[in-house]
Amino acid sequence: MAKILCIDDEPFIRLATGDWLCDLGHEVLEAASGADGIAIFREHKPDLVLTDLRMPGGDGFLVVAHLAEEAPDTPVVIISGTGTVDEAVKSLRLGAWDYLTKPLTDMNLLAATVERLLAKAGERRQNKAHLQSLTEKNKALELQLAHWTGRPQKTTAKLSDLLKMGIGSLLRALAEKDPATAGHNERVAAIAVDMGRVMGLDAEAQDTLLIAGLLHDIGKIGVPREVLNKPGPLTLEEFEQVRSHVVCAERILKDIPFHGPVLQAVLQHHERFDGTGYPQRIFGADILLEARILAVADVYEALASDRPYRRALSPAEAAAHMAEQAGRHFCPVCVNALTCALARRSADRNPAAIVQKGAS
Ligand SMILES: [Fe+2]
Repeated sequence: MAKILCIDDEPFIRLATGDWLCDLGHEVLEAASGADGIAIFREHKPDLVLTDLRMPGGDGFLVVAHLAEEAPDTPVVIISGTGTVDEAVKSLRLGAWDYLTKPLTDMNLLAATVERLLAKAGERRQNKAHLQSLTEKNKALELQLAHWTGRPQKTTAKLSDLLKMGIGSLLRALAEKDPATAGHNERVAAIAVDMGRVMGLDAEAQDTLLIAGLLHDIGKIGVPREVLNKPGPLTLEEFEQVRSHVVCAERILKDIPFHGPVLQAVLQHHERFDGTGYPQRIFGADILLEARILAVADVYEALASDRPYRRALSPAEAAAHMAEQAGRHFCPVCVNALTCALARRSADRNPAAIVQKGAS
């Protein structure tokens, strides 16, 4: 028996679907809007979610986007009365596991979908548990090795110090070449880490956000100085040179032994949620979460800062732009995290201190 949450603003649909699922032996929870559904999900942690698309008070896209981040192993099925291809594609891109159309004339199709996705979720949980077990065994072996030889721990400490010094040096080289954006990387890193905290990411992921935030534009070292500092509009060729900074960063950073997916986050920080970014034009959840966070922190910080060619937007104006682009340029969950992080930020944090300390 599974616990299934049914979200639909039409009571009759909830009743009919719920009765059918109860007859199959499942426990059914109900919600009349996306927002209520998310709240009930957080409290009761159901095994599977069925959600309508068009509802007042938070639609099915909102449900899918939230659960794709909060509970990626929980299947979410959209059951839509409109049933357009665009909606189906958007749902799947956001993280829905399946898409059905109303009216549900064949309830056996629903039953088969539910059973198939519950089995798939079970397999995924088993694989994760297996991977976790292997990771823990690996860590235990590393500790045992360190105990026997005393060497790996010392080597790791040295590597960590060298890494911090290397990052400091790279940032100073970038500041020499692109003085107009001095401090941008440190502020992006700070915002990204705050967003990660709001989203409940663990310490390792926050470290990735910090380092990737500091290094996200390091590839601009490979872009001609006159292009970076050009006051007027760029030619097409110059624009391509600027865009090349992400692949240049990959060449610069590829041999550094980062603990987390720093390299991927840097490489993907100009990808857009709707798939119109660069360099790979990937979209939605295919973009690394840390890269989606960086994209939001990067653009917000740039908008809220003065540039030689324009004045800074006010924080409220910059935040409004970010909200307007949620679901298009930016991941909507990350934009929500930015809003929360800005409200919570403390003024005394200084992520650059880690680099400066290591480099001194
Ligand atoms: Fe960039």
